[in-house]
Amino acid sequence: MTDLPDHPNISNGKKALVNRQESLDPDNWEDMRALGHRMVDDAISYLKDVEQRPVWKPMPEQLADQFKAALPQYPTSPDAVYEEFLGNIFPYPMGNIHPRFWSWYMGNGTILGAFADFLSATMNSNVGAGNHVANLVEAQVVNWMKELVDFPEEASGLLVGGASMANLVGLTVARNTQAGFDVRQVGLTSAGKQLTVYASTEIHSCNQKAVELLGMGTDSLRRIPVNDHYQMDMTALAAQVKEDRANGLQPICVIATSGTVNTGAIDPLNEIADFCTAQGLWFHVDGAIGAVAVLVDSLKTSLSGIARADSIALDLHKWMHVPFEAGCALVKNSAEHRNSFSVNPEYLTREVRGLAAGQNWFSEYGVELSRSFRALKVWMSLKEHGSDRYGRMMARNIDQANYLAGLINDDSDLQLMAPVGLNIVCFRYYPVVYQVMADQHQEKKESALETLNKEILFTLQEEGTAAPSYTTLEGKYCLRVAIANHRTQRTDLDLLISEVKRIGKKLTDQT
Ligand SMILES: Cc1ncc(COP(=O)(O)O)c(C=O)c1O
Repeated sequence: MTDLPDHPNISNGKKALVNRQESLDPDNWEDMRALGHRMVDDAISYLKDVEQRPVWKPMPEQLADQFKAALPQYPTSPDAVYEEFLGNIFPYPMGNIHPRFWSWYMGNGTILGAFADFLSATMNSNVGAGNHVANLVEAQVVNWMKELVDFPEEASGLLVGGASMANLVGLTVARNTQAGFDVRQVGLTSAGKQLTVYASTEIHSCNQKAVELLGMGTDSLRRIPVNDHYQMDMTALAAQVKEDRANGLQPICVIATSGTVNTGAIDPLNEIADFCTAQGLWFHVDGAIGAVAVLVDSLKTSLSGIARADSIALDLHKWMHVPFEAGCALVKNSAEHRNSFSVNPEYLTREVRGLAAGQNWFSEYGVELSRSFRALKVWMSLKEHGSDRYGRMMARNIDQANYLAGLINDDSDLQLMAPVGLNIVCFRYYPVVYQVMADQHQEKKESALETLNKEILFTLQEEGTAAPSYTTLEGKYCLRVAIANHRTQRTDLDLLISEVKRIGKKLTDQT
């Protein structure tokens, strides 16, 4: 980069450097440059060689104790701070950068995404307000998300920390628009009737938090039973709404999930959209897992109903592998969206020129005023890879999930516990000794299988071999493998199965 010319109106700019007062800048910029280069080298090696290391390792207690030290009062050199990071922090990641990490639902991140985070922190722009380029970048990224899910140009949206916040944003607009009175002005105490929201029993817990935060109470979240494929049962939904209306409640919204957290199930989106239209209800889609799967050709039909939603929550730090945090809330009617969040005190008045001009003030569309420039890592990642490659990576994960299910189905010691939804496989180690156990010992058997499978899981994680997670389906404990991982190869899944069997056999032989 060439030196910037001196500013014409600051003639003593260079001289002033001599008598500078203390700042937080480095004493020696060249030393800091060298340290920065070292960090980049270390980061590249760290990711390049990730599969040589254990997926996860527990932190030794002695090291963990170092994080109890008191607030540092005096400076430490940047090199020494970095050495401490290298020794005490870098070797103990969560593990979701590894090809055999399949816990909960996490993306891997990418190196360019990490560089983008560094660059956005360098610019340190606040994307809540103001007239600067970061707002344009975020506006473009939001437009790309709208294009992805086939939302109209007039729709609005913003980037948020993740789908929890994106669901909260969508459900806030749903509540405020559907309540029938000015919730912002008079509050929920003025509600003549209890406002109710509908979702399947497989709904992610963040939606419960959102309903609670919105003052509607957990009781207002009506959990609708699911079918054998863990999708919302439409007959039960219709019956619940009818019953609630008859009891004087006020249904306002149905939350459909595209990609449930337990099994990856996709609710019948078009049927729910039809139902919401007929009933005058808000249609919100929690697409944290599966909205971006519209990029997979074979899923376009089952996900087509997303475009009919009034609001959508998407995650980019999951299957799109943007480094944490990156989620997106989209609302079809931008006026309703803005009406739910905009407040314009005198110190935030919009001007016609200068820094306070500009169209895109994202703080008017969400909870936070100060917002990071997280759009940059999304923008750079999408440009680096293009949507086709993301679609291919997702299709491969789906293919891997079906491959894994095939290995499970072919093995008499393993049991598939749910239909494979998208990229999520639930199974358990279920050796013959338990299969032949009489029905009257059902409870004892389930409890023993839970202990056995939990121990398999702990061992896999503690030996650093693989990191699946767990769930309970119909009272049965399962290992759960969510392959949102651009680094996973089929051989990683072969290893998982052989290790589950090895550990399972060893444990069973011991009992
Ligand atoms: C279906 C679903 N919705 C919402 C969330 C919450 O997303 P986040 O962790 O990004 O807030 C998750 C997280 O896994 C999820 O699976």
